[in-house]
Amino acid sequence: MDLIAIDGLAGTGKSTLAKALAERLGLSHLDTGASFRMMAWVALTSNARLDSEADVLKATENISMSYEAGKCLVNGTDVTKRIRQESVSAAASKIAVHPLIRQRLLLWQRQWVANHGQCVVEGRDTASVVFPDASVKVYLEADSQVRASRRIEATTADLIERDARDMSRSSAPIRKVADAVVIDTSKMAISEVEDVVAGLWQSAIQDHKE
Ligand code: DC
Repeated sequence: MDLIAIDGLAGTGKSTLAKALAERLGLSHLDTGASFRMMAWVALTSNARLDSEADVLKATENISMSYEAGKCLVNGTDVTKRIRQESVSAAASKIAVHPLIRQRLLLWQRQWVANHGQCVVEGRDTASVVFPDASVKVYLEADSQVRASRRIEATTADLIERDARDMSRSSAPIRKVADAVVIDTSKMAISEVEDVVAGLWQSAIQDHKE
């Protein structure tokens, strides 16, 4: 599958890397976290109980979500900036524990890729669950203090709480798959990481042609 899947916890550099790669290689870019955030934003603004899967499903039942070139629309309203608030970060991680919510977003993400062709997709379970046939799989890591310093809106405590939830949930917890290339970005410049992944993509495309 002609796709680069990049997974990692918050602040590991996924978005910066995915955007830079998409531009450099001429690929589309999907931030799957944004799809969780859009749903969370709807759940929050509808006062749904985030720990109730049924409540969240009901509140988000008939929404339309769109993601194009980083712009996020929910029912036609531009929520690109609003979904970056810390309250939405926490809510996205909370609704992400619900299997039926994940299933809906998985279908939405697969459809997005089917509509956009070759792309870079980033998230937590893109290589392990959503696109297990991705031609390039990357798992980014970084020290927790480095990660917190990259997320201006989050304190280290917020980040640790969110990490713990994203790692321990029973439905698709974040996971390093055996065929992913693991890169620790703590001390690397983004351009160095970009060179490594662009090289993996060129080799994968070459193999595909042969
Ligand atoms: O990548 P992000 O910080 O925008 O993601 C927000 C939350 O969404 C994250 O804490 C957990 C959830 N998420 C997920 O469970 N699976 C993904 N593929 C992407 C995000």
